[in-house]
Amino acid sequence: MSEFILARQNGRTIPKEDRIFGISNRAKAAIAEKGRDKVVNGTIGALLDDEGGLVVLQSVDEVFRQLEPNDYAEYAPIGGTAPFREAVKKAAFGDHVPEGFIEAVATPGGTGSLRNVISNYSEPGDSVLTSDWHWAPYGTIAGEIGRKVAVFEMFTKDREFNVGSFRAKCSELLAVQNSLVIILNTPAHNPTGYSLTLEDWDAVIDVLKDEAAGGKAIALLVDAAYIDFAGDEEEYRRFIPKLSALPENVLSIVAYSLSKTFTLYGARCGAMICVAKTPEIAAEFRRVCEYSSRGSWSNTARIAQVILSRIYSDSELLEKVNAERKKYRDMLAARGRAFGEAAAECGLEIVPYDAGFFVSVPCDDPDAVSRRLEEQDVFLVPLAKGIRVSVASIPESACRRIPPMIKAAL
Ligand SMILES: Cc1ncc(COP(=O)(O)O)c(C=O)c1O
Repeated sequence: MSEFILARQNGRTIPKEDRIFGISNRAKAAIAEKGRDKVVNGTIGALLDDEGGLVVLQSVDEVFRQLEPNDYAEYAPIGGTAPFREAVKKAAFGDHVPEGFIEAVATPGGTGSLRNVISNYSEPGDSVLTSDWHWAPYGTIAGEIGRKVAVFEMFTKDREFNVGSFRAKCSELLAVQNSLVIILNTPAHNPTGYSLTLEDWDAVIDVLKDEAAGGKAIALLVDAAYIDFAGDEEEYRRFIPKLSALPENVLSIVAYSLSKTFTLYGARCGAMICVAKTPEIAAEFRRVCEYSSRGSWSNTARIAQVILSRIYSDSELLEKVNAERKKYRDMLAARGRAFGEAAAECGLEIVPYDAGFFVSVPCDDPDAVSRRLEEQDVFLVPLAKGIRVSVASIPESACRRIPPMIKAAL
């Protein structure tokens, strides 16, 4: 039976309030009442400075301020402007351009790429495979278009990437579906901060080669939303050429986002970039994804496309942007390290963390733990298997202070 008055349920469970925004609002109210230094708001998925202000790259803002009206007022082509489509391939791949036929389609953030991949490379009713620790909107995006999310266990008991579980789930789903979409969010995974190692990647590629032998279509979506906040940009792109080893019936697609990399969260821009074995598969990718864009958001906002194209047409400007980002990435890395050290000192177990915006703490009753922490003005996000701490949104001092509090709350 539907819980709605006039709206249709359509198989979805729609909460009255977005959980994360609810906690975040309580955190903001606590800050207003007691002061910023008394409250830890570790719920926000954006990089904040130590004073709680949104980090905006000044070098990107300067480009923004030089725009002419036509740069933002005019419609962009459905698949993105030609300079953007070239620039975004450079931004996504850096020096690690994979072999194959590459096409880029502009999307409103990485979110748009996720939606278009699921709608074009799976069938209604299918399950899309991702890890048990994952960004909750994967389920929302899949559910909106009549798909579900199935999960493999991300880690073994020895805290390594669980290739065995990945293999088992791929086989299980391919036995009952005509095709399979797989989402791997790496590097600097949300919510754990894990980055697949090059060895993990070799193992993933081996599994996919084996699974593809049955001839079914597989789409591997690499959600690279945090790739430029993982560590050295080139080092963290070394896995990309490995995608070229996949056979014809496995299409890899990188979901690249300008939200974090260029601090353009609200400008809603990203791209889905395929690495295909044949020109026909690449052309089909562009055709079906542009069609889906037309039928959902139409075209992507032009403004961020122009900004990215400008940055990539001026090597000095690009260097300036990269240098500025590095400063903030180092700040983020110091916070992650501080949290890890404080956790080790007090014996708090965390999920394997490499880099990025979030650290996760496994626990049995995340809601109860988060409630207990809220009573002490520490606001974190309860997930299915633990608690997520956004080190991106709290200062290093808080990263050192809260692990013993979490330990006590457990
Ligand atoms: C794991 C993950 N993927 C994708 C995104 C997409 O963000 P956007 O649509 O702003 O690019 C986010 C944003 O928080 C994310 O955490």
